[in-house]
Amino acid sequence: MKFEFRNPTQLVFGAGTLSRLGEIVRTHGTKALLVTGGGSVRRNGTLERATASLKAAGVPVAKCSGVEPNPRLSTVMRGAEMARSEKCDVVVALGGGSTMDAAKIMAAAVFYEGDPWMMMAGQENRRIPEKALPVVTVPTLAATGSEMNGGAVITNEKTTVKSFVTARCLYPRAAIVDPELTVSVPPDQTAFGICDLITHVTESYFNGVDGTPLQDRFAEGVILTAMEWGPNAVADGKDIEARTQVQWASVVALNGWVQTGTASPYPVHMIEHSLSAHHDIAHGAGLAVVSPAWMRFAARTRTTRFARFAERIFRLPLKHPEDAKAAAEGIDRFEAFLRSIGCPTRLSEVGIGDALLLRYAHDTVLVSHDAEGRLPGRPPMSETDIVEVLRSAL
Ligand code: NZQ
Ligand code: ZN
Repeated sequence: MKFEFRNPTQLVFGAGTLSRLGEIVRTHGTKALLVTGGGSVRRNGTLERATASLKAAGVPVAKCSGVEPNPRLSTVMRGAEMARSEKCDVVVALGGGSTMDAAKIMAAAVFYEGDPWMMMAGQENRRIPEKALPVVTVPTLAATGSEMNGGAVITNEKTTVKSFVTARCLYPRAAIVDPELTVSVPPDQTAFGICDLITHVTESYFNGVDGTPLQDRFAEGVILTAMEWGPNAVADGKDIEARTQVQWASVVALNGWVQTGTASPYPVHMIEHSLSAHHDIAHGAGLAVVSPAWMRFAARTRTTRFARFAERIFRLPLKHPEDAKAAAEGIDRFEAFLRSIGCPTRLSEVGIGDALLLRYAHDTVLVSHDAEGRLPGRPPMSETDIVEVLRSAL
């Protein structure tokens, strides 16, 4: 193992911490661009509480509402323009992953010369942003981990390509993670978030380099915690203890710590992004469809790893380390778990047929590919492999 780790985001975690928003934002700027989604924060009173906290701290705001799920490039440009014209010097993201991602790219686009899409992976002559306004995140949904990482994902609606950027300047200065804000998340979105956070760690568990036993244990801890508390959060949204454990797991799952030293690619994510780009489905729902199908494909070449997953997550006894039957049983049980919390696991359930399978595969590889044009992962995948995986999920 050889790595460097850095995560500069201040994390303030716990029920009731929203009240500290103003005090924290004030240390990073004097006027805030307040970025929100399609209206949930207005309906459930979170927006009112957030603005009251900012007002009490003497921080005026310009409101940028209406960030859509699977946020679009045009929305990011609108927000960046508002930040400039309103002379904001700090950005507050109050919402789900879509709102936080859009806010991060707005913050960078303020200083970026040219088309902000040029920041995104897959562009020729790509330029990673080096400067951004300070961002403070307040997640209202436990899922992406965007609140405490330097990544953001947006869709270019003109080309229907969804891509990502990770940059040092995109790390939020602070994340205020208040599980009380997630009690209004409906059961389906709660379940999709649980699938998303689990997939963040299964990606590195299955695709990372060999010889990272401690990271394996971290990943298993995140998965087991999400599987233990997730069903309670889905069954009773007001169960604050379940909401708390799920949200902490979602932060840990993608703030970089679990993946440290694994040098892992994210093939399941890359494939899913092509689906949500074309069909606007929830990211976590798309992952629930792609993940078990991908696992069955990958288990053919890396049976030992999937057997270990079966043993450690589902306590299945192994006859030998390469026990293919146990490996397959582990994947079946994982899929059954996803179904038990209400996730779809077939493309047809999210309204996707077989018409564009080649297109999804092509778009996936466009954003992320190795020297031979394959999607990085274990094993690397050709476009034909991606089509095969998706076809198996029809
Ligand atoms: O838009 P509003 O009205 O707020 O409603 C949202 C939206 O409809 C709703 N919601 C959020 N908080 C709520 C709530 N409803 C009731 N009560 C609340 N407290 O939930 C719906 C989905 O929101 P969204 O932000 O789209 O969900 P999520 O957090 O799953 O974010 C998904 C996006 O993040 C990207 C995905 O690709 C997708 O675009 N990702 C970002 C990552 C990152 N930056 O690290 C990593 C992820 O793997 C992922 O790719
Ligand atoms: Zn994800």
